[in-house]
Amino acid sequence: MAIRILVADPDMEKGKELASFLVKLGYEADSCMNGRTAQLKMYNKQFFAIILSLDIQEYSGGQVLKFIRTNHPSTKVILTMKSEQTLADAGLDRNTLAKQGVFDVFIGAEVASKDIQGAIEGHRDYRTLLVQASNEGASEEQEMDLSDDRFVQIRIEEFVSIKAVQFDIFIQLRSGRYVKILHAGDTFSRERLDKYKNEKKVEFLYFLKEDRIKFIRVQNFVAEKAAANANISLNTKVSVVKGLSQVFVEAVFTEGLKPLIFDQGKVLCDNVYEIIHKNDDLFKLMRDYSVFDPSLYTHSYLVGLFSGMIVKQFEWESRIINETLVMAALFHDIGCTKLAPEIREMSYLKMTPEQLGLYKAHCELGVQILSEQPVVPQAVKQIVLQHHERISGEGFPYGIRSHRILVLAQIVGLADEFTRHMVDNKLQPPAALRKMLSDPSCVKRHSAVILESFLKVFADPRKIAQNMGQAHEENKGK
Ligand SMILES: [Fe+2]
Ligand SMILES: [Fe+2]
Repeated sequence: MAIRILVADPDMEKGKELASFLVKLGYEADSCMNGRTAQLKMYNKQFFAIILSLDIQEYSGGQVLKFIRTNHPSTKVILTMKSEQTLADAGLDRNTLAKQGVFDVFIGAEVASKDIQGAIEGHRDYRTLLVQASNEGASEEQEMDLSDDRFVQIRIEEFVSIKAVQFDIFIQLRSGRYVKILHAGDTFSRERLDKYKNEKKVEFLYFLKEDRIKFIRVQNFVAEKAAANANISLNTKVSVVKGLSQVFVEAVFTEGLKPLIFDQGKVLCDNVYEIIHKNDDLFKLMRDYSVFDPSLYTHSYLVGLFSGMIVKQFEWESRIINETLVMAALFHDIGCTKLAPEIREMSYLKMTPEQLGLYKAHCELGVQILSEQPVVPQAVKQIVLQHHERISGEGFPYGIRSHRILVLAQIVGLADEFTRHMVDNKLQPPAALRKMLSDPSCVKRHSAVILESFLKVFADPRKIAQNMGQAHEENKGK
């Protein structure tokens, strides 16, 4: 997948020339002459960077800048302009530009393409994903003392890298003692990791918390490429998305929802969509799921995946609906981060009425947290607010009933209750679902249509399609 760059310049020839220079470097570059087209292009496609002329018209450069800041905060903006006067005319100065996230500014009629290239590739960025490792082979292992709270842990099978390792990877010897087994810039070797796994029985890899965004970006990139590759097993694809989702949720829950991370969340939801839609055998894999990890991060991932698998059964489902739903499912318990740890870690079945009252606040607390970020869609917040409401009116925080609860919130609610039931009772998904369905009070709480759709999640989609085709033929014959 090439990296996309947009050139927006009122001088058509100049714009095209720069775009073709970038294409020769291996980028996918596009150009346009006015602000309106630039916004339209950015609306339809995700660009890694935009080379924006402040002299652009029909939506001025300043307007486009605001649009990017609001809608695509992680796109790298490189600003060009004929003279300082353009800046003054737009009512801007360098300080404001820096605050608006502009990465670099070039003033003058003639800007060398090489300088633009330098700005695009500066600061060890995404471009490095596609280049060779700087260090052919692997560096020596390096043992060091580092405190445990500096690390993020990930299961060894959930980590896949591109050719050039983007950040340092460690294994733990004991608490506070780590070995750096791969250095940033090394060539990635699966064999090497397999050796640690099989010979040294290493279960987890570690990387530093400050590298979390790099990890998310790389894994999203790998997941996107893997989705289109028939030679990669479904097991590997799902493992990558699982590890990625957990680290993504952990990052949001511990560091807050930053625009850069939110953008990666959208890519992640798209990767979940691809897995659900392009793999008819996913039902088999999830039927056998048996990792009963109670952590909030794994819980969020499972609720996201099961929600996506349920909504796929509905004809009205789409990529956009999937994005809203899976995003909401990943964030549904974000309000729990504001609860006291003893309540956060306790099963709500064991809570006193007073503790339960505090726990129930997490839906509204979640909305409060998400409202701090204007990039979060309203529908996501509403799902988070309603994920504990039940059609029987027994839910919380408002005890609203039936159609007053968003269908997507009902789906997340069912996937949430199911996931907790499955993990608490250590039951594989089909057994957990059967047990839920044998409980009349549970059946009363959830929509029959959504429960039925959940049952279909564990059946072979090819058989469902066959049966539907047969039923259709029979109806036609009547
Ligand atoms: Fe919840
Ligand atoms: Fe939950």
